[in-house]
Amino acid sequence: MTNLHVSTREGLPSEMQTLLRATPRDTWPGHPNFAASVAKWMGAHQMFRDLARVTREDTESYIDTTMDDDAFTRSLARFGDRLVRNLHGHHAWEDQRFFPELNRADARFEEGLEMLEADHVEMDALLERFTRKGNRIIQLAHLDPGQMQEEARGFHDEAVAAEAFLARHLTDEEDLVVPIILHHKLRG
Ligand SMILES: [Fe+2]
Ligand SMILES: [Fe+2]
Repeated sequence: MTNLHVSTREGLPSEMQTLLRATPRDTWPGHPNFAASVAKWMGAHQMFRDLARVTREDTESYIDTTMDDDAFTRSLARFGDRLVRNLHGHHAWEDQRFFPELNRADARFEEGLEMLEADHVEMDALLERFTRKGNRIIQLAHLDPGQMQEEARGFHDEAVAAEAFLARHLTDEEDLVVPIILHHKLRG
């Protein structure tokens, strides 16, 4: 049985790679059907990777005391918040508009699109914990700064998990979706 879960799979399952084999990643940028909107969508993915990395790195700087309370809470309120809000909008749009459009264009990849939707559900739960623990740190900065270090350790687990999730999900999503777009000349 193919391993579909985001936390254990090691890439896009091979039976979903039919079009990826015909159009590997290094051919995408020069492909005549590689539309600006697709480059923009991949740019959003890169922003998510960057925001997750910065949040995880700043949490580590705070834990090893090279970042102070103010700078850490500013980072959480800015980068952590931006990551969560933009990801929610991005996933909602993919589930409601983008994936159905791809499925209508090519029904062979329905299982792959369902796998990506299941990733989004998984990510919602992770983002909920990430937000709750992040907000708690920001509250503690006013109420009880002495507790912030301990809370930051718990938050670090979620930041690491978010970064790992995104590394897997975004790459597999691009590997499934971009070849469908190129093959069927969508989103031009
Ligand atoms: Fe996604
Ligand atoms: Fe996406």
